[in-house]
Amino acid sequence: MFVVAQALVNPGDVVLVERPTYLAAVQAFELNGARLIGVPTDENGVIPHELEKLIAEHSPKFVYLIPSFQNPSGVCMSVERRAAVADVLLRTHTALVEDDPYGELCFEGEPLPPIASEPGMSAQTILLNSVSKVIAPGVRIGWMRSEGPIQFTLTVAKQAIGLQSPVPDQLAVARYLATADVEAHLDKVRPVYAMRAKAMYQSLQRILPDGAEVTQPDGGMFLWVRLGHGIDTTRLLEIALDEGVAFVPGASFFAHDPDRSTMRLSFVTHSPEVIDEGLDRLGRALAKY
Ligand SMILES: Cc1ncc(COP(=O)(O)O)c(C=O)c1O
Repeated sequence: MFVVAQALVNPGDVVLVERPTYLAAVQAFELNGARLIGVPTDENGVIPHELEKLIAEHSPKFVYLIPSFQNPSGVCMSVERRAAVADVLLRTHTALVEDDPYGELCFEGEPLPPIASEPGMSAQTILLNSVSKVIAPGVRIGWMRSEGPIQFTLTVAKQAIGLQSPVPDQLAVARYLATADVEAHLDKVRPVYAMRAKAMYQSLQRILPDGAEVTQPDGGMFLWVRLGHGIDTTRLLEIALDEGVAFVPGASFFAHDPDRSTMRLSFVTHSPEVIDEGLDRLGRALAKY
């Protein structure tokens, strides 16, 4: 992310991002002087006509999207939505930075092809991925796919930031990919994550206030909750920590005008029993708020 930001962003450039979007992308783009504008989203991802309107208004340097099981919302863009977004980007000659670390963690069916694979899109997309969501969270080895002269700029930016990613990590990943059955690993992990996501969704129903909204993802690692009622989840977190449970308050996932009643919950680490206990604690925190 930082390599892309370093290579592409000049101070004052506008970058369009989903509303909400990935916290570290906000940090990387803003540190390099970008002005971020959030594009409205629905249960299917970024809304094409809103995207087109904001492109016309701001002539962004690029659009940053996480189409599959987005961090933080868990939302996955349908095939039709991907095509509609590609159509807007192609007609407006707008570059795309597509981040796809969660695509393989789909609970049903096959992973959806990236927007970069839509006809005409590969030349104007930088596609990012990482093994950290597939092999192990501590293994931060990623890769990017791009075409044309931008490859040189990206290479120079990577060299300027750090000459090389750690060689032992790269060798470990190379050995893993050569010797392990990644598909078999994913086949084992996907149903476990699916069961945990379902358990969290169900346990949430008994603690959420009336009118609260929660996403029901078909993949990835996160559930996104909007509590409403003027609840500030940054303050709620302090009470929750006293109860022995944590979540990520949603405000930091917004480029601007944060919805402070939102929060991101991760469902991948614990068994349904522990998830249930964690949500009991969150329920007590909500009652005390
Ligand atoms: C959308 C997104 N992109 C990129 C990353 C970073 O991955 P890595 O540090 O493994 O490159 C994460 C999570 O850590 C993420 O959620």
